[in-house]
Amino acid sequence: MPALPTPQKDKDMLRFLTCGSVDDGKSTLIGRLLYDCDQVSDDALDLLKRESKKIGRAGDTLDYSLLVDGLMAEREQGITIDVAYRYFSTPARKFIVADTPGHEQYTRNMATGASTSDLAVLLVDARAGLLTQTRRHASIVALMGISQLVLAVNKMDLVDFEEAAFRAIERDFAAFADKLGGVEVTAIPVSARGGDNIATSSASMPWYKGPCLLSHLETVQINESCAAAPLRLPIQLAIRPGENFRGYGGMLASGTLAPGDAVRAVPSGQVSHIARLVGSDEDLQMAQAGESVTVTLADEIDLGRGDVLCAADDPLEVSDQMAAHILWMHEKPLLPGRKLEIRLGAQSANVTISALKYIVSYDSLEHLSGRTLGFNDTGFCNISIDRPLVFDAFKNNRTLGSFILVDKMSNETVGAGMIAYGLRRADNVHWQALDVDKRTRAGMKGQKPCVLWFTGLSGSGKSTIANRLEKLLMEKGAHTYLLDGDNVRHGLNRDLGFTDADRVENIRRVGETARLMVDAGLIVLVSFISPFRAERQMARALVDDDEFLEIFVDTPLAVCEARDTKGLYKKARAGEIKNFTGIDSAYEEPQNADIRVQTETASAQDLAQDIFEILQNKGYL
Ligand code: ADX
Repeated sequence: MPALPTPQKDKDMLRFLTCGSVDDGKSTLIGRLLYDCDQVSDDALDLLKRESKKIGRAGDTLDYSLLVDGLMAEREQGITIDVAYRYFSTPARKFIVADTPGHEQYTRNMATGASTSDLAVLLVDARAGLLTQTRRHASIVALMGISQLVLAVNKMDLVDFEEAAFRAIERDFAAFADKLGGVEVTAIPVSARGGDNIATSSASMPWYKGPCLLSHLETVQINESCAAAPLRLPIQLAIRPGENFRGYGGMLASGTLAPGDAVRAVPSGQVSHIARLVGSDEDLQMAQAGESVTVTLADEIDLGRGDVLCAADDPLEVSDQMAAHILWMHEKPLLPGRKLEIRLGAQSANVTISALKYIVSYDSLEHLSGRTLGFNDTGFCNISIDRPLVFDAFKNNRTLGSFILVDKMSNETVGAGMIAYGLRRADNVHWQALDVDKRTRAGMKGQKPCVLWFTGLSGSGKSTIANRLEKLLMEKGAHTYLLDGDNVRHGLNRDLGFTDADRVENIRRVGETARLMVDAGLIVLVSFISPFRAERQMARALVDDDEFLEIFVDTPLAVCEARDTKGLYKKARAGEIKNFTGIDSAYEEPQNADIRVQTETASAQDLAQDIFEILQNKGYL
């Protein structure tokens, strides 16, 4: 029997990140550590080889995509986040340090660095003390599951190595960190430039009796590895090279694995045993968290990418509703209700933030109420996914407990999430399969149900045309309903105003209502400004492909404003109405409307007649 591999990685390697404000001296500190240390040993290279495909030299900058498994999806998009990974070693330990830029917009990079780190070194300028940025980084780091924090009070030389300056910052931070919950803080006074208390104790600060930074990093207890946790092997790849070999590849997120182990596939629930366990080039007797393996199973089970092999007696949850902390990383705010893509491990699906419970204030750590999440905000949210996903709570498993949010239009990563728990109600609300369905109802009415979605500026003529069209349809015996912005806003959507967030919710509700009406067999006319492409797209996606026609009522702003049928443009120009579409709130014109009408050159009656004929030709009537 071949010798067991000796996976000691968790004990002899420390992954950490540095963070803090722009000028707090992170690069100097990292440079100092690399300079003072015995750079890189063969052992360290070996460890790296296991984790990355590319090997660099000491001090090289390793591309994020080579080392990080946490926020993997970034790589598939070909976006390289600007996080530099450097490695060095001492006789006591090997280190990988994530160096992340400190500028505001780089909170995202910091979060990426934090997602795989065991410890964070938070730098503070001794002259400046704690800044909002310092608190923000501390809370993000805590949120990302890092429980060891070093508060490096830097530039002590510039405050004459005064103990009082250090103690004041130490005290301030302790009061703050208390509220972070479960984070252990070690404060060290340093001067990165002079090397004071970095690799050796400083003669300039005899009053400081604690360890220098490097000794602390060498000896700090790292969280026990996830080996003790139950088995979770997310499947990245199904391999079928031959008739009788069906292998599944992935990286062990937690637990250990050996041939003969009983496993359960989630979500299917099928049970089998591990037949073979293969490492990079040979069969293994055992593998543990962090290792990439390929397994074969004793039974014929069909697994796909995104499925997770779990301990048979301790499987994972599956849910389409979860509560999670979300760190918003985009300049444009999060609009609850808007559809985003969620990527969780190898799984992806559509998701909406169904409720924003609270926003975390970085200064006081209090819970604030709010309707949107701004750039760099963290909020606690309920999310609703369009299919059940396999997940774990973040505190149990960083890999299966975290996700990223991607904007479907721009394909940008806009947020990162840490799952707190699954919401039970997902298990209990099931779709009712009903005997009378859409086809039956539509058949009785002798029509093909659909949504006629009118979009355009206020005063463009949407409602007038929709009104005429509905009359024409009625005269032909069609069964219709007209949903109009002004009317629905008096009832169903009475609670909504005209902020971006409210408009998104307005259209979400109307889209869902239109969907129900299509299900009832009706031809639904919808007349809403619906200024955002994303929500019009969402409304379209709610019904079948041929059940949605977007009708762009293309009247230029100047014409709408000249008409000013309701006198609203005048008020908006006078500043009496805020967020008015076309004035100080955006309207995103349709790029591929199914029908486009221009009201300057034709009457509403003629345009309604045109649309009516299109519907007849397309077989809706
Ligand atoms: S939407 O943007 O959320 O789709 P909706 O169609 O429901 O708007 O409502 C638009 C109507 O509300 C306009 O026709 C106008 O009568 C009225 N209104 C009041 N305030 C505003 C505003 N700030 N922007 C646009 N329309 C407004």
